[in-house]
Amino acid sequence: PAHADASPPGLDFRPVEPNTLDAVVVPEGYRHEVVIRWGDPIFPGAPRFDFDHQTAAAQARQFGFNCDFAALLPLDATGRTSLLVTNHEYTSEPFMFKNYDPEHPTREQVEIAWAAHGLSVVQVHQHRDGRLSTRFSRYNRRITATTPFRLTGPAAGSDLLKTSADPTGTMVLGTLNNCAGGVTPWGTILSGEENFNQYFGNAAARSDPRLARYGMTGTATTRKWERFDRRFDLAREPNEANRFGYVVELDPTDPDSTPVKHTALGRLKHECANVRVAPDGRVVAYSGDDERFEYVYKFISTGKVRPGDSRAARRHNMTLLDDGRLYVARFTGDSPPAEVDGSGRLPSDGRFDGHGEWIPLASGDRSFVPGMTAEEVYVFTRLAADKVGATKMDRPEDIETHPHTGVVYCALSNNVDRGKPGKEGATEPNPRVNNKHGQVLELTERGGDALALTFSWNLMLVCGDPASPDTYFAGYDKTRVSPISSPDNVAFDRHGNLWISSDSAGALNGLNDGLYAVPVAGRERGHLKAFLTVPRGAETCGPVIGERVVTVCVQHPGEVDGASADNPVSHWPDGGDSQPRPSVVAVWREGRRIGE
Ligand code: FEO
Ligand code: CA
Ligand code: CA
Ligand code: CA
Repeated sequence: PAHADASPPGLDFRPVEPNTLDAVVVPEGYRHEVVIRWGDPIFPGAPRFDFDHQTAAAQARQFGFNCDFAALLPLDATGRTSLLVTNHEYTSEPFMFKNYDPEHPTREQVEIAWAAHGLSVVQVHQHRDGRLSTRFSRYNRRITATTPFRLTGPAAGSDLLKTSADPTGTMVLGTLNNCAGGVTPWGTILSGEENFNQYFGNAAARSDPRLARYGMTGTATTRKWERFDRRFDLAREPNEANRFGYVVELDPTDPDSTPVKHTALGRLKHECANVRVAPDGRVVAYSGDDERFEYVYKFISTGKVRPGDSRAARRHNMTLLDDGRLYVARFTGDSPPAEVDGSGRLPSDGRFDGHGEWIPLASGDRSFVPGMTAEEVYVFTRLAADKVGATKMDRPEDIETHPHTGVVYCALSNNVDRGKPGKEGATEPNPRVNNKHGQVLELTERGGDALALTFSWNLMLVCGDPASPDTYFAGYDKTRVSPISSPDNVAFDRHGNLWISSDSAGALNGLNDGLYAVPVAGRERGHLKAFLTVPRGAETCGPVIGERVVTVCVQHPGEVDGASADNPVSHWPDGGDSQPRPSVVAVWREGRRIGE
């Protein structure tokens, strides 16, 4: 019977059992369907997807590969018509082409990959039963690795950003490795450029420690793009890589607009950016740098939000992330270090918790970092954060503010290097060595004030197999929670429940990843339940939790060791002997609201 376990509002569903199926699995009574998949045409007359005869021209007019972030932006008051904005984080050529020769990719294959990156804007219609279907509309748009972007903010025009193709240092072609993102209060999309380093070859020719700090050390890249466009060759174009690693902003309601890259939020492997508005109208953006032992950042704008939906208001609000102050977080634990021994077991005060501060890095042309100019802080932000003693975290992924309480939730995905020889050991916010499963941190700004420069924090979840003593589910009865590993994206439903998607790569006994929901308050706080699981080899990304429909991106289905287009282990979603295709999936329940 409904409400048998007194589920909090919005969470009345029977959890999905952990599994290894090549399928999306949803709770009993729910339906699901693919909304759009890699290769689906998004413009009238665009070619139908043909795996064996794909072309770059077709791909530029089709949905891209490996969708990660997704947003549903209503176009009208009924909510029946929306814009689905997704990004396409990266390409996996061995899964896109049969007989792929990684040593000798063809120009056509490389140009298909360029066109399969970036973002998509697609209009969708929500049917009465909850199902979503796509439409050709004037809003539909593809942004790829070659679409012009404007660099904005204090480092735009800097010598560090000038290239032979762009002596102004203000215009970049494309966006790469866009991971999570955010929807701004003014209706635009933010998207973080994450592992951009992998596209730039021949770093070794430069022996520049700043390249190494961002993971660029080698010669040839995996994809070999540097053979086809000199801008990907650091030996020939040393500054092109300085033009990636930003938070980008797109106005999806204006298909002719030029998207921007905000230098004021710094250059790092941005997982995401999420904005909240302070009572005085200034905006605060949080972002994580997703790599082992990297940092959490915050930006406070100088300007204030202009209310309203007018184009003038939106144009003003799109400048807010260009002028302000950038900070990095230092977390301090309150338990004796000896009680945080790397085992993940709770210290004697019963909580992994403490306080922290936001350390300023730069504001406008003013640097707060000894030995670095402001431009250097924005372009080499990791080095700036190193110098001021920020706290090295276990892969900061998505960060989002609770819509009712203002508490900030940060997914820390995992860090198997913690405690290894030569690496930092356990700290209270990162309390496990060889951390395979990650944790979810709650951060409360002092006095609940978004503009505060100090905060308190605690770990709400220490993830993994609940039967294991090194896990913690906010003190809830661990025999009743779903196992979860490697939290990646966080989202909230209208009741204020936290939803978490996972990217574990099978770290939890080879089980598939999923989307989980958990109350953050009340007696059921910590009662984590799996709402869906994704097919084998996939990660769950980009959850959007609506009143009547939940959407997720199913990224890289079938990507497990040893698999490829020549040897597919997944045939999701098309079935038969088809190749797996990254897709957006909608989940709904006919005639009922989600979780009710
Ligand atoms: Fe692309 Fe941090 O996940
Ligand atoms: Ca403590
Ligand atoms: Ca992610
Ligand atoms: Ca991920």
